[in-house]
Amino acid sequence: MFDLKGKVAFITGAGRGIGREIGLNLARAGAVVAVTDIADTVFETAKEAQKYRNESIAVKCDVSNLEEVTNAQKHVLDKLKKVDILINNAGIYPQKPFLQITADDWNKVMSINLFGTFYFTKAFVPGMVERRYGKIVNITSISGPAVVYPNLVHYSSSKAAISGFTKALALEMATLGINVNAVAPGAIDVGNMPVGEETLTQIVQAIPMGHMGKPIDVANLVAFLVSDEANYITGQTIIIDGGYSLP
Ligand SMILES: NC(=O)c1ccc[n+]([C@@H]2O[C@H](COP(=O)([O-])OP(=O)(O)OC[C@H]3O[C@@H](n4cnc5c(N)ncnc54)[C@H](O)[C@@H]3O)[C@@H](O)[C@H]2O)c1
Repeated sequence: MFDLKGKVAFITGAGRGIGREIGLNLARAGAVVAVTDIADTVFETAKEAQKYRNESIAVKCDVSNLEEVTNAQKHVLDKLKKVDILINNAGIYPQKPFLQITADDWNKVMSINLFGTFYFTKAFVPGMVERRYGKIVNITSISGPAVVYPNLVHYSSSKAAISGFTKALALEMATLGINVNAVAPGAIDVGNMPVGEETLTQIVQAIPMGHMGKPIDVANLVAFLVSDEANYITGQTIIIDGGYSLP
């Protein structure tokens, strides 16, 4: 386990799924965590995280709403004084054929997946620059940066943009002690796959390892990337997909 004692980590979309597991895993590694989500379940995540680091807190926030982001930023800095580690995880993946995607659908996906990442990075990077220390991990997907799944043009576009954002920001931050990386998961079992049984079987059959990943698989990679053991890695999008994108 990596040692994150003395660090404060902020994780978006931590009310369930991958974000929840990232939050708990970072707390297990010794970080005080501020978990945030649009859903009330984030308070349960914080309660669980407090078993490892009792200073951990929850903040309710819609990442696509700049005013709420600013309030969350103020609240966290007021309570915990700094953010060393930022995990931009909140994301939605609604499936729709391109011919049915409306401008509203497009805006919603971009607002949450891409603007949310931008807003929180803008919120916490200045403090990181001041302290010459920061670790940012953006959760993208293999869909967009590496492969594409059907009916996800808006989603794949937002996730490809996150990889570009990650590289470009990493370059600007390289001399300032701030690492910026992205993690691109394949199919991870979070218990609510928005697809039927048949599609699910097809997805699993296409994974060389023969099974979906678990949230903890992603959380362990994130824990490594935000640790000082990964100090020389920046600007990368690291795929974690059981080999799905290999063939
Ligand atoms: N599960 C997968 O197979 C998979 C694969 C690749 C990438 N991802 C990415 O991983 C991330 C997490 O996905 P997941 O599978 O855990 O999803 P999930 O739906 O299980 O959890 C997402 C969380 O984000 C929260 N959220 C949604 N909109 C929000 C908003 N506007 N503001 C704040 N919080 C909001 C939800 O309330 C929820 O708690 C997403 O960015 C997703 O695109 C997931």
